[in-house]
Amino acid sequence: MGLTLDVAGLTCSFGGRAVWEDLSLAAAAGESVAVTGPSGSGKSTLLSCLAGLLKPEAGSIRVCGTDPGALRPSKAAAWRLKTIGFVYQFGELLPELTAIENAALPLLIGGSTRAEAYGTAETLLADLKVGHVADSPAGTLSGGERQRIALARALATRPPVILADEPTGALDETTTAEVCDLLFSLPRRYGCTLLLVTHNPYVASQADHELHLTGGRLRPAAAGA
Ligand SMILES: Nc1ncnc2c1ncn2[C@@H]1O[C@H](COP(=O)(O)OP(=O)(O)O)[C@@H](O)[C@H]1O
Ligand SMILES: [Mg+2]
Repeated sequence: MGLTLDVAGLTCSFGGRAVWEDLSLAAAAGESVAVTGPSGSGKSTLLSCLAGLLKPEAGSIRVCGTDPGALRPSKAAAWRLKTIGFVYQFGELLPELTAIENAALPLLIGGSTRAEAYGTAETLLADLKVGHVADSPAGTLSGGERQRIALARALATRPPVILADEPTGALDETTTAEVCDLLFSLPRRYGCTLLLVTHNPYVASQADHELHLTGGRLRPAAAGA
């Protein structure tokens, strides 16, 4: 009821070794959650489970009421497209495409008309203060600009959930602060849930809920520190 992310008792293993065990978390629309933890603690693995790209060994996952692991492969991609926006460390844009082409892509893939897709992308780029570079190839832009465009792309289908994997990991301090402000404004502005994983304690401290993943356990950050 009202929870966009509802995870309980999750355990994920590779080759018989648990990455983490009995992991639980919950978040509602408009909330942000940050997960910190050392490299190799299983942060990206958690995001893959939430997106239905990996099946956990035990436990339950509900993303907007759906168990992503239970979807048939033919349904899973369409579900992901409308439910989850992804943001990665390096923006992961297509460098030859312009900013607006990158931002419009999820909508075009989802079957929107060109007019709808480009209209939405243009509005989002302007909202995220990169409207002026809409027609520049993504590969020619700065790291901060690329990450803003990646946010526009993640928001294009108006997904209820944004999953961000080290979204400021490749940015300098000033740009990190700018992109961080923007990221944490998304739940308020767009009513989505933001789950981000990060090494950066400053970034994590901006979230509504801060969790720490270490030794195979997820705990509130204060108790894990
Ligand atoms: N597909 C996979 N097959 C086997 N081991 C994996 C796979 N994906 C991740 N791992 C292992 O799981 C652990 C957690 O990885 P990861 O989730 O990428 O950590 P983090 O994102 O916190 O750095 C690591 O030990 C990694 O080697
Ligand atoms: Mg990772």
